[in-house]
Amino acid sequence: MLGRLAIRHRLTPPLEKAGGHIGYDVRPSARRQGHATAMLAAALPIARSLGITQALLTCDETNTASQRVIETNGGQFIDRVGDKRRYWAPTS
Ligand SMILES: CC(C)(COP(=O)(O)OP(=O)(O)OC[C@H]1O[C@@H](n2cnc3c(N)ncnc32)[C@H](O)[C@@H]1OP(=O)(O)O)[C@@H](O)C(=O)NCCC(=O)NCCS
Repeated sequence: MLGRLAIRHRLTPPLEKAGGHIGYDVRPSARRQGHATAMLAAALPIARSLGITQALLTCDETNTASQRVIETNGGQFIDRVGDKRRYWAPTS
């Protein structure tokens, strides 16, 4: 197992603030090999097939790696909520 990714079919008020539609982790020994970027790229069309036209993605202000993963996959910065950055990413 290299990592895991979850697609949340619906947002709840807590997920709108932190968590968003898609969350992911990569095993520490497998990081910095492009897995998270590839996992999110593979997940966006699946989210599309679930009726999610743009995915809400969030990450910690200090999480440079996750910010890169999101931005490489087309995420557009929306705002900060507390210590989280929020992005919309198109799913098509
Ligand atoms: C965030 C996380 C999923 C990234 O996984 P990954 O497979 O290492 O990511 P990638 O290899 O696809 O790297 C994506 C980019 O981040 C950069 N990066 C990776 N780790 C980094 C680090 N520790 N510091 C700075 N940049 C980093 C890579 O160089 C790459 O940059 P590039 O697009 O400019 O080439 C992983 O670090 C992790 O599981 N962290 C703990 C859980 C977590 O934060 N999940 C996300 C919650 S929003």
